[in-house]
Amino acid sequence: MRTRKLVVGITGASGAIYAQRFLRQAARSFDQIFLTLSDQAIQVAQTELGVAPRREGFKTQDWLGLDLPNVILLNERDFFTPPASGSFRHDGMVIVPCSMGTAGRIANGISNDLVTRAADVCLKERRKLIVVPREMPWNLIMLRNLTQLAEAGATILPASPGWYHKPQTLEDLADTVVARILQALDVEQDLVKEWMSNE
Ligand SMILES: Cc1cc2nc3c(=O)[nH]c(=O)nc-3n(C[C@H](O)[C@H](O)[C@H](O)COP(=O)(O)O)c2cc1C
Repeated sequence: MRTRKLVVGITGASGAIYAQRFLRQAARSFDQIFLTLSDQAIQVAQTELGVAPRREGFKTQDWLGLDLPNVILLNERDFFTPPASGSFRHDGMVIVPCSMGTAGRIANGISNDLVTRAADVCLKERRKLIVVPREMPWNLIMLRNLTQLAEAGATILPASPGWYHKPQTLEDLADTVVARILQALDVEQDLVKEWMSNE
């Protein structure tokens, strides 16, 4: 069987819980996950979750509570890594959560780190790019940048949790977003039932 590969970027928008819960789920469906983080993503995860991924001695156990050997951390400054090139074939990229700074850089072709370069590559190679932006309110520049990304082929999947499944915990609420990311990747998920479906 073909090796399923996913690229994941985590940036410094609020909502580190989405990244945490998404990675735990995605690791069940992808053989390899190439992860890259901005410095600010680490700061925000520390603030919001009290735990954050460490670059030195990276272990998923420390911040995801699970040992996931298929999650491979790449340095965000290192362009000598697979997702930096279009020759590396993979099944898509998710940026979760995506800051307005990162969204703006991608929308304007400024690929100055591995997250923005890997996203740039997805757009030029017509690969799946799922951007999970989080900010409120959005100013006109942000809206235009997100529109530009959508026009270039990205899926804009805002971190707007749904309430109609009556989530009981913060994790349930976050999972309403995680489920939609997995669906956008064509991955089976059992976090949230499909609306009016018996399956
Ligand atoms: C606690 C905290 C929460 C933040 N939340 C957001 C947010 O929701 N959306 C956003 O665009 N930026 C947010 N920021 C600001 C970004 O972290 C900042 O613009 C940073 O430069 C983004 O860098 P990056 O895109 O390289 O991760 C937040 C910063 C902090 C410290």
